[in-house]
Amino acid sequence: MKDHLTVVKHPLIQHKLTLMRQKDTSTAVFRQLLREISQLLAYEVTRELPMTTRTIDTPLCPMEAPVLAGRKLALISILRAGNGLLDGMLELIPSARVGFVGLYRDEATLQPVQYYYKVPDHLDERLVIAVDPMLATGNSSAAAIDLLKGSGATDIRFLCLLAAPEGVARMKEAHPDVPVVTAALDERLNEKGYIVPGLGDAGDRMFGTK
Ligand code: URA
Repeated sequence: MKDHLTVVKHPLIQHKLTLMRQKDTSTAVFRQLLREISQLLAYEVTRELPMTTRTIDTPLCPMEAPVLAGRKLALISILRAGNGLLDGMLELIPSARVGFVGLYRDEATLQPVQYYYKVPDHLDERLVIAVDPMLATGNSSAAAIDLLKGSGATDIRFLCLLAAPEGVARMKEAHPDVPVVTAALDERLNEKGYIVPGLGDAGDRMFGTK
């Protein structure tokens, strides 16, 4: 991907996102919409995957047919809200390898602290797609990418549903080599670090907590 930021403006994505933003949308519908949007975003983020060919036999004749080249993708969910994007993407790319990064914010230092980290091997040979619905301050996203690079990843993309300008700027500063793909770039963060207009707390809305 050439651009650091790609906003996917497909009408189906935008319509579904509007439904997700509405505060009266139920947990079940929110989760279903996220699953559907994640598949449409997965289509975009994998658009330029390297291809090769394989000889196959159709019922009529042999042919050289296109297939994906190289090692399988690695999808990395940034817990916990990342799992909402992960589920839909795995339906589309069922053979992808999966990893998880758990980070929480230390309220004293305001820095992200790692509490869980498990990723597939050979990250250096895979396209790595890190997923988190909300790119807000960008601090935990940048820290998650630091960890993935520490595990050898060199070809990384960051996929989210909503991004704030502050988060995009933070990612560009920390990881200019990591393209960000999102369904919308919202106006700003509020004083509590929520994206405005946003959709609220993505984890709470998808899991029905709070
Ligand atoms: N995380 C969320 O779930 N929502 C926001 O608006 C910001 C961060």
